[in-house]
Amino acid sequence: MHLSGLRSVGIACALAGPGPHHPQQPPLPPNQNQTVTDEQRNFNTISSIYNLTVYPNQLPIIQRGGAGVPPGLFSQNVSGRVDPVGAFQGFEDSIEYFFALAPLPQGNGASAAITSYRITEFSSGCSDVAASVVYLYCSVVNPGAPDDGKALAPLKQVAFWKFDDAGAVLKYDAWIPNLNAWVEATTAAAVTNPQFQAQSILQICAVTQMRCTGANTQWASIGECVSVLSQRPYGNYDAAWGDNVVCRSIHLVLTQVRPDHHCPHVGPTGGGKCVDVQYPNDYFTDESLYGQPVGETFMCKK
Ligand SMILES: *[C@@H]1O[C@H](CO)[C@@H](O)[C@H](O)[C@H]1NC(C)=O
Ligand SMILES: *[C@@H]1O[C@H](CO)[C@@H](O)[C@H](O)[C@H]1NC(C)=O
Repeated sequence: MHLSGLRSVGIACALAGPGPHHPQQPPLPPNQNQTVTDEQRNFNTISSIYNLTVYPNQLPIIQRGGAGVPPGLFSQNVSGRVDPVGAFQGFEDSIEYFFALAPLPQGNGASAAITSYRITEFSSGCSDVAASVVYLYCSVVNPGAPDDGKALAPLKQVAFWKFDDAGAVLKYDAWIPNLNAWVEATTAAAVTNPQFQAQSILQICAVTQMRCTGANTQWASIGECVSVLSQRPYGNYDAAWGDNVVCRSIHLVLTQVRPDHHCPHVGPTGGGKCVDVQYPNDYFTDESLYGQPVGETFMCKK
């Protein structure tokens, strides 16, 4: 049972985020008649984004995709990266990363979910740029079970944000430190254990064959999938971007939202997502990702 947790949970908690038990207050304006400052507005946007990763707030987005995301949080043109997972171009890719990866307790053996969040560091020195650190607190959600409510390891995300004139996120550059340690601590996954790896490959292949059908089919059979993926590097969650099994375990979660788009990522070719990347070339792509010279995007002007 523990093994099944890794596949959809491990990543999910990690990627997504936060929870509502400790709602944070944005800095208060000097008096009640004052309008919301840009700093408050930016804090509220970031807080609302992380709040949507708290179970069950992400359910409408898993069910309806972009249509389930409240307006005003992300620009249609949003793009960014989340190390160590990858880069995401456009609204659908971005919102799926932030929300559809938030773990569902029913979807993993540890019954883990993000159950609260806290923005622990925040600064916004100009209207269009902010920096934040969030702690995404995870716990067991399994009503009636003895361990229901048990706290699991939190996940940390460090991010810089660029906002459009309306205060929606236009660009982001985020990092999840210690993702592999978090996955191991939370889901009891033994990422380097060959027996664990074999079980997780079997699960990934079984779920792929269930979700990627018809025109989205990737493999002739579970057996073919197992045999091919067993020859690929397993990877680890601190280097989740690559032609490896760990990358497919993350993108597999997204096949429930848009199978036509995500099934190729878990298949034999990796669909342009789970493909070999080179350090440093593929990690220093600011100009193409953000459409601005290096060093421009997340700096306050003047
Ligand atoms: C978080 O989202 C829930 C559900 O949408 C909402 O009821 C709650 O007020 C939000 N909390 C914060 C702090 O934004
Ligand atoms: C998105 O970008 C395109 C091309 O740069 C631009 O024409 C369009 O107005 C932008 N849309 C939004 C919602 O910012």
